[in-house]
Amino acid sequence: MSLRFDGRVVIVTGAGQGLGRSHAREFARRGAKVVVNDLGGTPSGRGADGSVAQDVVDLIRAEGGEAVANTDSVEHGDKLVACAMDTYGRIDVVVNNAGILRDASFAKMTDDDWDLILRVHLTGSMCVTRAAWPHMRAAGYGRVLMTTSVAGIYGNFGQANYSAAKLGLFGLAQTLAIEGSSKNILVNTVGPTAGSRLTETALPKEVTEALKPEYVTPAVVLLCHESSHATGRLFEVGGGWVSETRWEQTEGVFFQDDFTADDLQGRWAEATSFATSRHARTVAESKSGIKERVGIEMALAPQK
Ligand code: NAI
Repeated sequence: MSLRFDGRVVIVTGAGQGLGRSHAREFARRGAKVVVNDLGGTPSGRGADGSVAQDVVDLIRAEGGEAVANTDSVEHGDKLVACAMDTYGRIDVVVNNAGILRDASFAKMTDDDWDLILRVHLTGSMCVTRAAWPHMRAAGYGRVLMTTSVAGIYGNFGQANYSAAKLGLFGLAQTLAIEGSSKNILVNTVGPTAGSRLTETALPKEVTEALKPEYVTPAVVLLCHESSHATGRLFEVGGGWVSETRWEQTEGVFFQDDFTADDLQGRWAEATSFATSRHARTVAESKSGIKERVGIEMALAPQK
C-alpha cells in the first residue's frame, strides 16, 4: 500500500453507511485518523441515530485503525470541524459525501423537498468545507472532495431538487479549486454510482449488489492523496469504471456587426456544430472567442 495517509486527518461526512463508510474504512486502513460523521437519519432526512457513526468507528478500531464519531448534521459544519480539531488538531482532507433524497416530479415538489435537499447537499458541503478552509490555508495543504451525481450532470426525472444541489456542488468546487490553489488546497468532484439504500428503490437488486461502494473509493482516495495534483476536475466512477468528464464547447460563430435572431437562425447549424470543438478549463479559455470583439483576454479578476 504505497498511498499512505499516516499523520493525516480525514473528515468523511455521511460515513455511517454506503459510500462514506467505504471511504472512511479505506482512509483508516491507509493510516489516516478519520472523523466519521453521520447524523443517522432516514434516506429522506428524518430523525437521527448516533449509533450509525459509532458502529463504523468501532469497525475501524477493530480493524486496527483510528477514528472518532461525530453525529452533527453537515449543516453545522463548524461543530464537525471543531470535533476534528479538538480530537486530532488538524484537518487535511474533507470528503463531502452526506446525502439524502426527496424525489418528486417538479409538478409535485414541495418547498420543503427543495429546501432540505439544498441544505444537506449544497449548504452542508459548503459549511463543512468553509469551516475547514482556514485550517487548510494555515497549513498550506488540503484536499477537498465533492460528491455530485449524474442526476446533476445530465438531469433525472423526479430529481429537480437533487440535480440542482448536485450540480451546484460542482460549481462550488470549481471556484474553490481556483481560490485554494495558492495554498495547495485541491478540490475535485466525483459522481459515483453504487448500490446503497439511496439507490435500492431505483435499481434492481442484482444491479445494486454488483455496484459495490468499494468500487468508488479508490478514485476518492487517490484524489485526496498528497501525490495527486488534480484540481477542478470531475470524475464519474462506479461498478469498476473510472472516467473523467469535461465540458465541450463548439467553435461557435462570430458576428462582426449588430445581428438579429434571424441572422443567428441562418447560422444556427454552424453555431452548434461540434465538428470542431474546444474543452475550455477556465473563463479565459471559454471566452476566447469574445477576445475578437473586446481585444483583450476575458478573465474575471479576483476581488479580495
Ligand atoms: P447512504 O444513504 O448509504 O449514505 C448517506 C449517508 O449520509 C447516510 O449514512 C446518512 O445518514 C448520512 N447523512 C444524511 N444526511 C446527513 C446530514 N445532514 N449530516 C450528516 N450525515 C447525513 O447513500 P450513498 O448512496 O452512500 O450516498 C452517498 C453520497 O453519494 C450522497 O451524497 C449521494 O447523493 C451520492 N450519490 C450516490 C449515488 C449512488 O449511486 N449511491 C449516485 C450519485 C450520488
